Amino acid sequence: PVLVVDFGAQYAQLIARRVREANLFSEVVPHTMSVADMLAKQPAAIVLSGGPSSVYAEGAPSLDKALLEAGVPVFGICYGFQAMVKALGGTVERTGLREYGATQATVRPESTLFNGQPDTQSVWMSHGDSVSEAPKGLAVTATSPGADVAAIEDNDRRLYGVQWHPEVLHSTFGQQVLENFLLHGARLSPDWTAANMVEELVTQAKADIGDARAICALSGGVDSSVAAALVQRAIGDRLTCVFVDHGLLREGEAEQVEQDFVKATGVDLVVIDAREQFLTALAGVSDPEAKRKIIGREFIRTFEQAARDIVQDRGDEEHPVKFLVQGTLYPDVVESGGGTGAANIKSHHNVGGLPDDLQFSLVEPLRLLFKDEVRQVGRELGVPEAIVARQPFPGPGLGIRIIGEVTEERLDILRRADAIARAELTAAGLDRDIWQCPVVLLADVRSVGVQGDGRTYGHPIVLRPVSSEDAMTADWTRLPYEVLAKISGRITNEVAEVNRVVLDVTSKPPGTIEWE
Ligand code: XMP
Repeated sequence: PVLVVDFGAQYAQLIARRVREANLFSEVVPHTMSVADMLAKQPAAIVLSGGPSSVYAEGAPSLDKALLEAGVPVFGICYGFQAMVKALGGTVERTGLREYGATQATVRPESTLFNGQPDTQSVWMSHGDSVSEAPKGLAVTATSPGADVAAIEDNDRRLYGVQWHPEVLHSTFGQQVLENFLLHGARLSPDWTAANMVEELVTQAKADIGDARAICALSGGVDSSVAAALVQRAIGDRLTCVFVDHGLLREGEAEQVEQDFVKATGVDLVVIDAREQFLTALAGVSDPEAKRKIIGREFIRTFEQAARDIVQDRGDEEHPVKFLVQGTLYPDVVESGGGTGAANIKSHHNVGGLPDDLQFSLVEPLRLLFKDEVRQVGRELGVPEAIVARQPFPGPGLGIRIIGEVTEERLDILRRADAIARAELTAAGLDRDIWQCPVVLLADVRSVGVQGDGRTYGHPIVLRPVSSEDAMTADWTRLPYEVLAKISGRITNEVAEVNRVVLDVTSKPPGTIEWE
């Protein structure tokens, strides 16, 4: 594999994903792993990630020079670049010139990393220290306003480094720089495909689950459907999918899961009507985190009961349900505070919202993947396009799209407004242009309107169309005015309780995609 050594940045998994985009297998390892253990994995190349520290800070993770002398090609990024320079005898200094954000680098197009690229390019920087002197034997191949030494290379020892972050999209030629390292610096041939990914994940799931039974929390969305199809391939009919109708679903959703997914996969499915249970548990609660935790808890309680019933119904007492399969993705893990040193932004119900006394072991085969990779895996497994191409919908459903307490009546209002918005976006052919469009009910807000000859005092509905690559960042989608007008007109006419439709024009950050 291509090893990505994680120096404690949120970027390490992103680097691994970029390596996979270049069709090479990659794996993230912590910087605390010994050089011997890293080399035991027989890495074809090594990428050193960025990190939050200064190489001179106390307790800063250091780089064992032996890794650079093992004959394996190495590419250092940001902190990894500086750690590499320091280990090779160059100089890293606090120059006072800090660079954060986009800047222009001047590169040498005849070098290995920048071959075939323009000699100035936009790059994304984030550093306080700078390299002032390259180590002996390494050529300086780029500079930037804040760094005299912004890239280095040595084609004999196959050592390379850049000060900026080639893995983020703001670095215009970032992917080419990385691929130049992998294909021309390290001279690897790209042979990693979705089929390989499936094989790897199936083998892993087999090993994890052994001969026990598992249940999968199926939501009808892409992630849980793909996770289910994957585990079904691994353990066959020892997997049962459980679809919980928690009453927080959109119109037509339960029916779609039963029809589309089961038809395609033939998976064993149990549908549980838990509408009353969830509504009762949510009564009187309006705090977003409290709602998420309650929904997560009720989900798990429902699965526990289902697990007991399944073993009984299937008459298979020797193989108790030990595992709960979830379609957790990497962005869910990072944002729930599961990444290295990452902050808890919100408790995604399938990660941070789990109760402490969970009676299952979790199987999360997709936890290192991004959405588009999950879609590739799904297609490879034969999951129907109608599911694979679906826009994301959060597990807590409409429960986190009603700002305020969740009640039956409010759910009904939101469900009708949401169905209209979705129908119009689909009719306008926009489904593939937007990542998703949450429709949010501001249930505790009322405003005055006029309709017919009368005064109304209704609720606003918020439209939140966003464009995104992986939900980690997003921008609001510039929908055509005619489509917005159509949606607004229909909602205010057809949903009596709503007298105002507003558009959310906030990117992420600072807003998140969902309102809660
Ligand atoms: P945010 O609101 O954090 O959303 O910007 C990022 C993406 O995650 C979805 N989302 C969830 N998905 N369980 C899920 O399965 C959750 O609790 C959850 N919360 C948010 C959201 O729809 C968006 O695609």
